[in-house]
Amino acid sequence: MSTSPAPLASTFAVIGAGRLGGVLAAALSAAGLTVQGPLRRGEQVASADIALLCVPDAEITAAARTARPHVAFIGHVSGATPLDDVDFSLHPLQTFTGDESPEVFHGIGCAVAGRTDEARAIAEALAEALGSRPFRVDDAHRAAYHAAASFASNLLLTTLDAAEQVARIAGIPPAQARALLAPLARQSVANWERSGAHAALTGPIARGDERTVTRQRDAIADARPDLLALFDALCAGTRDLAARDDRDDHGREGAA
Ligand SMILES: NC(=O)c1ccc[n+]([C@@H]2O[C@H](COP(=O)([O-])OP(=O)(O)OC[C@H]3O[C@@H](n4cnc5c(N)ncnc54)[C@H](OP(=O)(O)O)[C@@H]3O)[C@@H](O)[C@H]2O)c1
Repeated sequence: MSTSPAPLASTFAVIGAGRLGGVLAAALSAAGLTVQGPLRRGEQVASADIALLCVPDAEITAAARTARPHVAFIGHVSGATPLDDVDFSLHPLQTFTGDESPEVFHGIGCAVAGRTDEARAIAEALAEALGSRPFRVDDAHRAAYHAAASFASNLLLTTLDAAEQVARIAGIPPAQARALLAPLARQSVANWERSGAHAALTGPIARGDERTVTRQRDAIADARPDLLALFDALCAGTRDLAARDDRDDHGREGAA
């Protein structure tokens, strides 16, 4: 173990062999870094300057305590967890199932934070080595940042899954529903990315056609009443979006 190593000349241990750990270890190796792991539970850090904890958030405290005697710096990859137990954090703003290639990091955002400038420089150097774009998020804003990521990924999937289930009412089987609805979802995301949600919004709520919304609601109430609460909540949010004055957005961006 050495102290204060130059970030990319350091040796790394990736701890945790789950969805992200394996992909991250492979990507760091592909970037030319010296990497041990991903280490499974119970496997020891042999020799490394820097440990990267890719364990569930609830395990970070214990895993950091185990790694601390063996390394100079410890980082985690959690979006929501503060830096209480680690020196830095590196949160790739992407979803990982474990099957991704190292290129998955190319061009994505990577939230970085550090308890010291030196520790944050490690996170920034790692993000850049992976081909991603580091941006800073401090502990005070971490929960809100992570909630934004949840809206864009986890909660989006809940909406897409509801679309797939409701398509079934219309006799469209799940695999076909995903194939048919995915281009619609992709175009919606592309339009949102380009111009924001208010400008991208189309459909009956944007047109003020509440009769059609009621007919949709009745069809769901008949066949899948368990999905009504989600439908109603999303319709309420979409009415707010349709009514929103675009100038509010510009005001908020200007004030941020
Ligand atoms: N997956 C994503 O899309 C994603 C994206 C960005 C950030 N992250 C972050 O990445 C971290 C890991 O998430 P994940 O999705 O990869 O979770 P995961 O698939 O559940 O994998 C966690 C791994 O950590 C292992 N583990 C648990 N405690 C350990 C310990 N004390 N020492 C060593 N290994 C231990 C688990 O082993 P056992 O099976 O033996 O418990 C499991 O293999 C989290 O902080 C998460 O916020 C994930």
